[in-house]
Amino acid sequence: MSDYVIEARKLKKVFYIDTEKVEALKGVDFFAEKGKIVGVMGPSGSGKTTLLHILGTIDVPTEGNVFIDKQDVLKLNEKQLARFRNKKIGFVFQFHNLLPEFTALENVMLPALLYGKDKKKAEEKALNLLKQLGLEDRIHHKPPQLSGGQQQRVAIARAVINEPIVILADEPTGNLDSENSERVIQIFKELNQKKGITIVIATHDPQIANFCHMVYYMKDGKIVDIYT
Ligand SMILES: Nc1ncnc2c1ncn2[C@@H]1O[C@H](COP(=O)(O)OP(=O)(O)OP(=O)(O)O)[C@@H](O)[C@H]1O
Ligand SMILES: [Mg+2]
Repeated sequence: MSDYVIEARKLKKVFYIDTEKVEALKGVDFFAEKGKIVGVMGPSGSGKTTLLHILGTIDVPTEGNVFIDKQDVLKLNEKQLARFRNKKIGFVFQFHNLLPEFTALENVMLPALLYGKDKKKAEEKALNLLKQLGLEDRIHHKPPQLSGGQQQRVAIARAVINEPIVILADEPTGNLDSENSERVIQIFKELNQKKGITIVIATHDPQIANFCHMVYYMKDGKIVDIYT
């Protein structure tokens, strides 16, 4: 049996804007084995973010199947999906969706609390992660008081606190300088090696593509190359 954590077949995604039809995905097959770091590259508009949204169960395909950790996610109802997502999937997206009213520390703790972890343990873990990402002196700041790169790192800490089985990252080093890019790369490598978390990263950054075990290359809504 295959050891795929992500198995997506024949994905199509059509968006309509008024009467105009955009085919963002035109039949994509995507697989990620457990414990691999998989890159998704390709020009702007090729469908990377659309694919990650569908793999992350925050959007549904027009056609096709998505299995995450053997679960057919299209069969889950909203409530089941929310639970599944919080437990299994960590998101690091370009627009990080941090809660502006909460501090960095609270933002990172939240998924752990939702998952039922006790407050003290959640706080300890969140603190550790924020330290690893060089944010120990910003834990009580709220997102609007942080720079873009700092917010990005808070989002990474939040994505990994529940030790999900899959992390989906959309240009995680997009707004970062080289020092902070390196930090992000280190934390991804560590999570992958120590915890065996599967990581999918959409990126334009060759430095990131370098440490992927495998890279899917997209063009115009299709996978046109797979580098291993
Ligand atoms: N909600 C939407 N409604 C309509 N069209 C959309 C929507 N989201 C994406 N698209 C279109 O789908 C195509 C793929 O977009 P997507 O965001 O997946 O590209 P991308 O590869 O992530 O690009 P980038 O590198 O610029 O982030 C684009 O042509 C885009 O305009
Ligand atoms: Mg994108």
